[in-house]
Amino acid sequence: MTLKKLDLIAACDLNRGIGNKNGLPWYLPSDLKFFNSKSSTRSSEDAPDNIVIVGRKTWESFKPKQRPLPRRRNIVITRQEISEPDDHSFKDSDSKNKAVFVHTLQDAVDLAFAQDDRSHCFVIGGAVIYEQALRHPAFDLLYLTEIEGKFECDVFFPPFENICSLISQSEVHVENGISYRFNTYQKKR
Ligand SMILES: NC(=O)c1ccc[n+]([C@@H]2O[C@H](COP(=O)([O-])OP(=O)(O)OC[C@H]3O[C@@H](n4cnc5c(N)ncnc54)[C@H](OP(=O)(O)O)[C@@H]3O)[C@@H](O)[C@H]2O)c1
Repeated sequence: MTLKKLDLIAACDLNRGIGNKNGLPWYLPSDLKFFNSKSSTRSSEDAPDNIVIVGRKTWESFKPKQRPLPRRRNIVITRQEISEPDDHSFKDSDSKNKAVFVHTLQDAVDLAFAQDDRSHCFVIGGAVIYEQALRHPAFDLLYLTEIEGKFECDVFFPPFENICSLISQSEVHVENGISYRFNTYQKKR
């Protein structure tokens, strides 16, 4: 079995807003639980940790104690100078203690796909990285939590309706007075 594909996970409001002031505009613990479960659940018990690809701003939006995201190998994309440019491999200790920094989405994908075939690879934002990932040939599934409300946002998920089809839709959940659904889209072939 090979899992050499890119899946995206995001949550957006009715305007496709995803963030504000480099943070999330809402507090939805169930969605965070879904995100953590989906991105860290391995394809089998003996499979290595999954891989998450994240833009530098989203990375910095995580509290220092929360990063790297546990039980996942973290790859961060930045144009800034990388202090250890040769260190582009996941050693066992690295995957637990620090992220690997790369300069492009393609570098991140190359590194991810060079790992064990059983690892899932998830793009987890932000907007700039989603935009690039949606156009990547390996893009397959978009797990999108769609929030039925409008929030103050300064970053937005890119238009995706023309390139994806809805393949599953959850019932409406309500938390903190916010209604939302867990939906899955797949790239049109
Ligand atoms: N609702 C959700 O599901 C969700 C998910 C994730 C994030 N967010 C929100 O999204 C916001 C952050 O998103 P964002 O779009 O502002 O930033 P981002 O995508 O997280 O990060 C952008 C940064 O990534 C690096 N980058 C982007 N494209 C690159 C390229 N082609 N080559 C090299 N480096 C590249 C650059 O880093 P350097 O500046 O270091 O060069 C750039 O400044 C936050 O509010 C966050 O909370 C929401």
